[in-house]
Amino acid sequence: MALKQYKKVIIKLSGESLGGKQRFGLNTSSLDYIAAEIYSIFKLNVKIGIVVGGGNFLRGAKVSDNNINRTTADYMGMLATIINGLALQSALEKKGVRTRVQSALSIKEVCEPFIWRRALRHLSKGRLVIFSAGTGNPYFSTDTAAALRASELKADIILKATKVDGVYDDDPTINKSAKFLEKLSFKEVIDNEYKVMDQTAVTICKENNIPIMVFNIFEKGNLLKTIKGERTGTLIF
Ligand code: GTP
Repeated sequence: MALKQYKKVIIKLSGESLGGKQRFGLNTSSLDYIAAEIYSIFKLNVKIGIVVGGGNFLRGAKVSDNNINRTTADYMGMLATIINGLALQSALEKKGVRTRVQSALSIKEVCEPFIWRRALRHLSKGRLVIFSAGTGNPYFSTDTAAALRASELKADIILKATKVDGVYDDDPTINKSAKFLEKLSFKEVIDNEYKVMDQTAVTICKENNIPIMVFNIFEKGNLLKTIKGERTGTLIF
């Protein structure tokens, strides 16, 4: 049976994936590598939205303490995602990928505001859209932003790009006999509290029938294989 190629996808890219070995700041080689992998699917006329995280600069929940409250820390995290979005735009445009950056926070001198109809128009004109600033609200993760954008834009799937092969039933770095899970239902992820995506994000995907593929983007060619319908990691559906 021929594999089904995905036509419209949301890629959830962690900020840390742009930070190189240190997982911090912006690493030129990581940006270049990720841009090249994305170019490989852009060439196939796949409609692509990217939701980018900000963990290479800071994580709201971790930074918050007595000095910086959680809400402020989360807004700081959203600003970090805008920095990443702009860096990614530059790296992608260098490869010839037409892009637009939209932000869920109004910062119009820097990039466009998120406007649903405009995002659809960009996609229909063959532009890749980078969605930054998460959902624009504190207490929500960029995983939830990915679930939201995928639902709004009626994406076929969320491709959660990570540095690991997928989901295991235990931490494989600690438990050598941890079992790799090829497929999981949304219910299993929610009931077992697998830390693959936060529960809000998984619930939105479940309610809107958006499957999630958790895969390793640092395995060269994996993104292309995933787009072509191959199972490259853990499929959640
Ligand atoms: P079409 O209307 O389909 O041609 O889309 P377009 O994005 O090319 O049109 P537009 O003239 O709106 O945008 C031209 C450029 O300006 C693009 O690079 C946009 O990303 C950018 N742009 C548009 N609106 C804003 C904004 O509010 N702020 C910033 N900073 N840039 C914007």
